[in-house]
Amino acid sequence: MSLVVFPFRTEDPKVVEFNLRVAASHPAVGRVLAVGAEEESTYQAVEAFRSELAATTGTPVDLILQDRIGSKRPGKGDGMNTGLRYFLNETDAERIHFYDADITSFGPDWITRAESAADRGHDVVRHFFPRSSTDAMITWMITRTGFALLWPHTELPRIEQPLGGELLFTRPVAEALVADARVQDQSDWGIDTLYTFSTIQAGLSVYETYVPQGKQHAMYGGLTDLRTMLVECFSAIQSLTGEVVGVGATHQIEATAAVPASITEKIGYNLEATLHLLGEDWTARQAELLGHFPTGVKEGMLANRSTPTFLFLDEEAWFLSFRTLLEAYVPGDPDWEAVLFRLWVARVISYTATRALRGYEHSQRYLAEMVDGYRRRAELGS
Ligand code: DGY
Repeated sequence: MSLVVFPFRTEDPKVVEFNLRVAASHPAVGRVLAVGAEEESTYQAVEAFRSELAATTGTPVDLILQDRIGSKRPGKGDGMNTGLRYFLNETDAERIHFYDADITSFGPDWITRAESAADRGHDVVRHFFPRSSTDAMITWMITRTGFALLWPHTELPRIEQPLGGELLFTRPVAEALVADARVQDQSDWGIDTLYTFSTIQAGLSVYETYVPQGKQHAMYGGLTDLRTMLVECFSAIQSLTGEVVGVGATHQIEATAAVPASITEKIGYNLEATLHLLGEDWTARQAELLGHFPTGVKEGMLANRSTPTFLFLDEEAWFLSFRTLLEAYVPGDPDWEAVLFRLWVARVISYTATRALRGYEHSQRYLAEMVDGYRRRAELGS
């Protein structure tokens, strides 16, 4: 039997109830756990409906608050690691699934797909799905780029959605993740990076299952909405620099299918609310920190103090900038955070203007080739 865990913060209680019901009704599921970040309105709503849910489905539905486990910002990592510990200490289930509580396209097939891959012997199952051409900009520009630069010979840069929070782990995998101090320390948005990294480093068998309908969520406002996630995901990658990863992991990716118009036509972020970020809130020290970067990047970024400029941050400039960031970035330093954020914003707008505008197919091919190009270059040591 499996345990299904939904970590949540403040979400639409109706969506959470629907998703918990889907999980509790699934024949492979023996128990459902909701892990709340704090005791707010969604937590109260789950508390109010969970007994009825358990009674009508015949599956126990538990609700707990996340523990303080790691040393970073208390966030999603503490929530997921609380779920892992509950799985090991409070249940004898064989598998644990994680799903975000706010998915509006969730259904029993998400669980069935993961279960059947685990039945075929995979240790880790990761869900992946089509995402709009301007979505997944941390995934592509930070995590997949970082994996390509740092571990080009491994499966890491080939993981489709390394920041995906929809996962299945077998019990031995959960034991290894709870025993891994790096993973347990990562209490913030960096947790997905650490789960991905640790399972590939451990040489496990990883299967990526394709969910054709995608994961529906609202458009982001300006890219500011993603600032904390960006900083935490970059810091997580940087903290792993120097780690050795072998080639023992096996990795299979399920074939993809036609992508619905709701995704190919979707706009990922609000460009108008983003553009002005390039010129805002500069400090003298941020301008000075740009001295670490190649001259073209430094001058292009500095020009933003008077007028938005971003086309210079092309694939090559991002490769060089990323290498500099890996070496020079100081975690927790607000000026470095601002420099990282502004560079990423310029890179994302540059990509939007030159690639995403050419359409869904073109942009997906471009991003995959970009990461593969970085990977080959890093492999050659150039
Ligand atoms: C990503 O980049 O994957 C984040 O979820 C933001 O879209």
